[in-house]
Amino acid sequence: MKNTVVTLQQQKTNKQKISMLTAYDYTTAKLIDNAGINAILVGDTLGMVMLGYENTLPVTVEDMLHHSKAVARGAQDALIVTDMPFLSYHISIEDAVKNAGRLLKEGQAHAVKLEGGVAFSKTIQAITRASIPVMGHIGLTPQSVHAFGGFKVQGKTKLAAKQLIEDALAVEQAGAFAVVLECVPSKLAELITELLTIPTIGIGAGSSTDGQVLVYQDMLQMYDDLSPKFVKGYAEIGKQMTRAFECYHQEISAGVFPEAQHSFTINSAIVDELKAEFGGVS
Ligand code: KIV
Repeated sequence: MKNTVVTLQQQKTNKQKISMLTAYDYTTAKLIDNAGINAILVGDTLGMVMLGYENTLPVTVEDMLHHSKAVARGAQDALIVTDMPFLSYHISIEDAVKNAGRLLKEGQAHAVKLEGGVAFSKTIQAITRASIPVMGHIGLTPQSVHAFGGFKVQGKTKLAAKQLIEDALAVEQAGAFAVVLECVPSKLAELITELLTIPTIGIGAGSSTDGQVLVYQDMLQMYDDLSPKFVKGYAEIGKQMTRAFECYHQEISAGVFPEAQHSFTINSAIVDELKAEFGGVS
């Protein structure tokens, strides 16, 4: 079944949880899509997990387009939401609409995601007015890492929690079809989910949100370093890949790979003639 902004809304209405994972390339998108995940986020986390940057700030619209197109070629049914990177929607509303439009026209996304609440409601309004579906993102918004002084849980004081509720309501009123709540206390995420008619997608926001999103490298445990508290490991792919790479290296060193079954044949008379012509080991 094709997932759309309408079917995601229906899932909230019918109390069916929404599943979302990040993907940045064709192969992973295909695997995620085949698994029946409802939505794929081409997140600007690609700056960190695919390109090795320290945070998401260096990611460009061109980077997002490159990866979004690859994901679109791999996914048949999942709704594809592509992140608007840092400074692609902050400078002017005209810029924001143009960049969001490029992510749909060239990146073949079905929707865009941008970070921010009340302060970005006019931007969300303008993008949705251009018939581009917008997913909001509030709470820990990684593009504001320096303003926050690090990656920290948001909305823990009454004042901060009130601001988050206002942000969520502003995003909904501006026309967003869904909103990501990142690193928000569970009870606050539950309250926001009740207050909104649009689906909430949580990451580090407890179990009461309408859906969940994770970075796929985190849930597959592809790194040795510590992963965030909110991540559950569903496989140990990092260890499996390392073991496979080591085994490959050892087999090459030992001359075990490739075997006859991995090789192509030629009539030995031809080889003998070539040897006679060019000389060679007998
Ligand atoms: O860029 C991303 O992957 C995200 C998720 C962490 C929600 O925004």
